[in-house]
Amino acid sequence: MVCIRSIIMSTFTPTDLAIAKHVRSVELSECELYGEDGFWVADLDIVRRQLARWAKELPSVRPFYAVKCNPTPRLLELLASPPYNTGFDCATHAELAHILSLGVPGDDIIYANPCKAPSHLRFAASRSVRTMTFDNVAELHKIARCSPGARCVVRIKLTPTTSGDDDEDIETPRYDLSLKYGVTVDGARELLRLARTLDVAVVGVAFHVGSAQSDVRAYARYICEARRVWRVAEDTGHDFTLLDIGGGFMDERFEEAAAVIRTALEAEFGDVANAQVIAEPGRFICAPAFALATSVVAVRCESEDAAGRRSVYLSDGIYSNLNAATWPGELTFPKAVKGRRMLSVEDADIAPVSPTGSDRDSGIEVGDAYGDADGEVGVQMEGALQEYAVWGPTCDSGDVILKSAWLPRGIEVGDWLVFKELGAYSVCMRSPFNGFATEHKFYYLNE
Ligand SMILES: Cc1ncc(COP(=O)(O)O)c(C=O)c1O
Repeated sequence: MVCIRSIIMSTFTPTDLAIAKHVRSVELSECELYGEDGFWVADLDIVRRQLARWAKELPSVRPFYAVKCNPTPRLLELLASPPYNTGFDCATHAELAHILSLGVPGDDIIYANPCKAPSHLRFAASRSVRTMTFDNVAELHKIARCSPGARCVVRIKLTPTTSGDDDEDIETPRYDLSLKYGVTVDGARELLRLARTLDVAVVGVAFHVGSAQSDVRAYARYICEARRVWRVAEDTGHDFTLLDIGGGFMDERFEEAAAVIRTALEAEFGDVANAQVIAEPGRFICAPAFALATSVVAVRCESEDAAGRRSVYLSDGIYSNLNAATWPGELTFPKAVKGRRMLSVEDADIAPVSPTGSDRDSGIEVGDAYGDADGEVGVQMEGALQEYAVWGPTCDSGDVILKSAWLPRGIEVGDWLVFKELGAYSVCMRSPFNGFATEHKFYYLNE
């Protein structure tokens, strides 16, 4: 006879099952200090899948993983080891030191911060990290003084059109990095001339289309601009060999972006024999692999809330693993998972609402697999919905995760919310504000 339990189990992801297991192990009434804190589940097979997608779509572009995006040690170890041996984009001394400690050679690192702290720059020079970006006069002087052997890469942004519109019809990315960094082609010309007089070697050009850039045409625009700067380099006596196409790749648009990049590289750089092309992907590599489960530590359902919302307070907020809540579009919608409840509080008259199809898909659907033995602890909550405000744990009223969200009715202290695909710019944002912990439990799957 086919075992129904094994059929059900096989429909859950390993992440679902790991979350359910931890949730079942936590008893808020008697847990140890910080026992109710959020925890991470990272499935390293998903990272491998992303790297395979990259190798298939962009085989001639070597990824230099952007460490800032998620510096979790196991992730970095996987990327640094065979068969991947990715390069790394580091922005600070701490990131450089971490990557160097893994045995990564200095030449496999790009110090991709156009505005570097002088002591960090001297550290990089002392450890033979020579390839680095810059985009201003002061930085060139600093590099000349602190890192004489540097191989510099000029970071560009798009040159404004005559209409003054700097990116024509290209959509603005979620994080527009050109507001902060980069020079236009004319600016690059000035910098390349200065570099000659300072005897600083400039070996290439870098750009970043902006993080989470859904308009894949941006890559073509920037590659075209980079080719213009490449020609300026020839005019100003620099021997360019490196094109760095940055990050910004979104999981759901990756194949599309890669096709645009292949075409643009062929059109613009097909005639350049010695161009080595690298990229600095961050979110594409790590975002889908990490899920956060965070517990409900408090519930308010008094009738003072004019909108009739039930407020839940999580163990994580914008000052910890849920900083993504401050950026529209960054957070995936949470699933509620039933935990070992401490207590139960009833709302004053709130009418339940039936769930829609889209509210019910995916998540921790371990109902039959776990429910029998243990009263549905670890099971995704379903059924009627009600309106919630979801808050972080600090005393800051700005520490809000969802101002208004429809979630399963009756979430209690001891239940959990699960945020999937949260690997980018999350674990690295934790601060000790208000005395909350900056360390959390990590479960690694498929190591
Ligand atoms: C210089 C640089 N490279 C790469 C990245 C990674 O970008 P993403 O995570 O969008 O791929 C960033 C992100 O801010 C960056 O500033």
